[in-house]
Amino acid sequence: MIENKQWIYAERPTGRIGMEHYILNVENLDSASLKPGEVLVKAMYISVDPYMRIQQSSNNTWEKPHPLGVVQGAGMVGEVILSKSKKIKKGDFVNCYTGWQEYAMVPEGEARLLDPKIAPISTGLGILGMPARVAYFGLTDAGKIKKEDTVVVSGAAGAVGSTVVQIAKIKGCRVVGIAGSQEKMDYLVNELGVDAVINYKENRGLEEMTAALNKAAPNGIDIYYDNVGGVITDAVFNLINHKARILICGQISQYDHGLENPELGPRFLHKMLYTRATIQGILSRDYNNRMDEMIEEMGPWVKAGKLKYKETVVEGFENLPAALSGLFEGVNTGKMVVKV
Ligand SMILES: NC(=O)c1ccc[n+]([C@@H]2O[C@H](COP(=O)([O-])OP(=O)(O)OC[C@H]3O[C@@H](n4cnc5c(N)ncnc54)[C@H](OP(=O)(O)O)[C@@H]3O)[C@@H](O)[C@H]2O)c1
Repeated sequence: MIENKQWIYAERPTGRIGMEHYILNVENLDSASLKPGEVLVKAMYISVDPYMRIQQSSNNTWEKPHPLGVVQGAGMVGEVILSKSKKIKKGDFVNCYTGWQEYAMVPEGEARLLDPKIAPISTGLGILGMPARVAYFGLTDAGKIKKEDTVVVSGAAGAVGSTVVQIAKIKGCRVVGIAGSQEKMDYLVNELGVDAVINYKENRGLEEMTAALNKAAPNGIDIYYDNVGGVITDAVFNLINHKARILICGQISQYDHGLENPELGPRFLHKMLYTRATIQGILSRDYNNRMDEMIEEMGPWVKAGKLKYKETVVEGFENLPAALSGLFEGVNTGKMVVKV
């Protein structure tokens, strides 16, 4: 019998998500009930991601709202401590979607094997996991990135954004990163090789942001990789080039309050008409079946240090709700994970 701690999602937030929306539960897990083809996994790192807040909205999104009274859904990476699988053995490391709990019984088909020789296994949640997938396929598949492109990325120092800026640099583009602190801007320029940066907190209005973008992207914008939405995105519309590709990956500025009662912005869609630009939503899950392709290209980049990554590691299972909340305050650089 194993004591399994779980965070139960108990109440829908109307603003910022926090500890008060969760209940800590302890269940007894009987390891003898493991079925043929299943593995028992002990979580080592559990993910906190902005999309969790989208699913907590009371409206349908890409799926129905996250139900109340169940374990908070999330990705994790962990060690197999018991196996009834022929494919995955005890001692293997896997990535699976088992939520905010310390242990889980997982069918082998729902566990992705990780190779710790490529990079530490925590990267299975970040630079070699779900956020990287939407970065990679968003740019290469939906964005049809070309080396002549000027690529603007909002949320540039986060898990998705820091991957996007580097892939765009590897592809030979001019890259502009937008983030919320001087420290993050220094990281983007000095460590990730971004060409120009904008601190959105110092350019809050539409005019200021348009002027800052104009300076950072003097030849206009070919790809806008949007993680944030709001005023930044409004300003981008002013500067898009012929056949620009606007990729909507996320809208984090709107998650706290805006999903049920959206803000109204300027109506700039006429710019799409003149430029024949496209705007497209991109979802990581649409590329789940192409994960091997991504690892094949990005694994060697990560191993060789060509693709850098930072992780913000919060210690302790009990800190999961606070860590999730911290994403909306920008406390992280790179992928935020909780070490169990
Ligand atoms: N479509 C998909 O499949 C998919 C998959 C993963 C993520 N996403 C989306 O991609 C975006 C980034 O996700 P992530 O996992 O990489 O998270 P992240 O960027 O690592 O963390 C969130 C960051 O967002 C910034 N932020 C928070 N509130 C903000 C606000 N009001 N205005 C501007 N920036 C704000 C903060 O950085 P600053 O210090 O710069 O403010 C914070 O560090 C999110 O919108 C998320 O929903 C989409």
